[in-house]
Amino acid sequence: MTQPADSARPLQTTGIFRRKPIDADEDSGLERSIGLWQLTAIGLGAIIGAGIFALAGTVAKNQAGPAVSVSFLIAGVASACAALSYAEFGGLIPRAGSAYTYGYAVLGECVGWFIGWDLLLEYTAIVAVVAIGVSQYIDFLLNAIGLDLPSWMLGAPGTGSGHHVDLFAVLLCLLVAWLLNRGIHTGAQVETWLVFVKIAIVIAVVVVGAFYVKSDNLSPYFPHGLSGAASGAAIVFFAVFGYDAMSTAAEESKEAERNLPKAIVLSLAIAMVLYLLAATVLTGMVDYRHLSDTAAFAAAFDSAGLSQFAKVVAIGAIVGIFTVLFSFTLGASRVWYAISRDGLLPAWFAKTNAHRSPYRPVWIVGLVSAGIAGFVKIGDAAELTNIGILLAFVVVSAAVIVLRYRSPELPRTFRTPLMPITPLVGIGFSLWLITKLQEATWIRFAVWFVIGVVIYAAYGYRHSRLGQGQVVQTDDA
Ligand code: ALA
Repeated sequence: MTQPADSARPLQTTGIFRRKPIDADEDSGLERSIGLWQLTAIGLGAIIGAGIFALAGTVAKNQAGPAVSVSFLIAGVASACAALSYAEFGGLIPRAGSAYTYGYAVLGECVGWFIGWDLLLEYTAIVAVVAIGVSQYIDFLLNAIGLDLPSWMLGAPGTGSGHHVDLFAVLLCLLVAWLLNRGIHTGAQVETWLVFVKIAIVIAVVVVGAFYVKSDNLSPYFPHGLSGAASGAAIVFFAVFGYDAMSTAAEESKEAERNLPKAIVLSLAIAMVLYLLAATVLTGMVDYRHLSDTAAFAAAFDSAGLSQFAKVVAIGAIVGIFTVLFSFTLGASRVWYAISRDGLLPAWFAKTNAHRSPYRPVWIVGLVSAGIAGFVKIGDAAELTNIGILLAFVVVSAAVIVLRYRSPELPRTFRTPLMPITPLVGIGFSLWLITKLQEATWIRFAVWFVIGVVIYAAYGYRHSRLGQGQVVQTDDA
């Protein structure tokens, strides 16, 4: 992307509103080899995961009934509005850091810091939720091949009789951190294949499951009314984001300014179609009251007498969802690294090891997510994620409006349509979904927010490289 060289204007913002310049022409030195479809695959790799495989069943059972499909639709509309704003930024600032980078450049350091701080919590909680989802399918599989696991290791306290810890989930979080710190992660090629497996499994579930759908199971469609579907939307919202993880790959993609916006919209659209079909089939196969609390898709086929196919579904889910663990452990450590590099957190965190991995943040994310995954219920951890993501959506949607009016001349390769209605609808939906979350989630989030205020006031504000003049502020974003 070419940015007008004369766009650097005198400093206009100071203090907590100082804005970080984004030099989109700066080359990271990475080879630009990822094309549109690979980029879309990376998006799908981070979008399709525990949201559909683990949460759809519990939400249908406990909140929405068959109308869980409507929950997906509501969450999808909210996410689509935000996705269009992300797409505009993706074309304008095709760089790693996602909402943190956009917020810092457009709304200033204070907002950027809070979004970065928010992303740290939410990405870590995502890793935990996804690990619990994978662990459910591992338990299912081991059980299906006749291994009787002791109940103390099968789930967090309160999720079943005798449950004390979700041991596999804990081990998965630690395993991914260890692999990443050894420089091992799914490259674009492997990622594309794993995504292929995941999509193939969802399509197989839909096609095979369609023969077992009974219309009786879909009635009543709204057993808990529209409000049940809305509460469900606040949880399955977990399933409809992840495209922000793509911004990490932006620096390695060909024609990122054009391909990133397209890939964001494309990956969300593909995921939504698959979700609506899969959720309808699941609730059509099994009466929502009898859905399994764990590994719902595999359990549904098992109860339909297709035990071999159920195992295939479990294996596909494990392999497919695993990619999400990598994406977000990597995403969290990268955001942490970026914040430290900007001086808002100590540089101690930005130190990399021989494998060029910021190993300290990776281990912290691994350990904290392991703690959450082992001892917190999946729904509670998902809510904690969602409140953070919804807030990030509000900020990105607001930022796109501000930037459009403040700097209309910037060369945008993608423009959010129906400005400012689309981002405003995104903001409205996101705030509405936040009100549907439990009070306990708000309190947990508020505690995290207050810790963030203290750290910024006591450390970040004074150590900011931008504030110390080590980065020259411009007014070009
Ligand atoms: N959207 C991702 C998932 O469902 C986080 O796992």
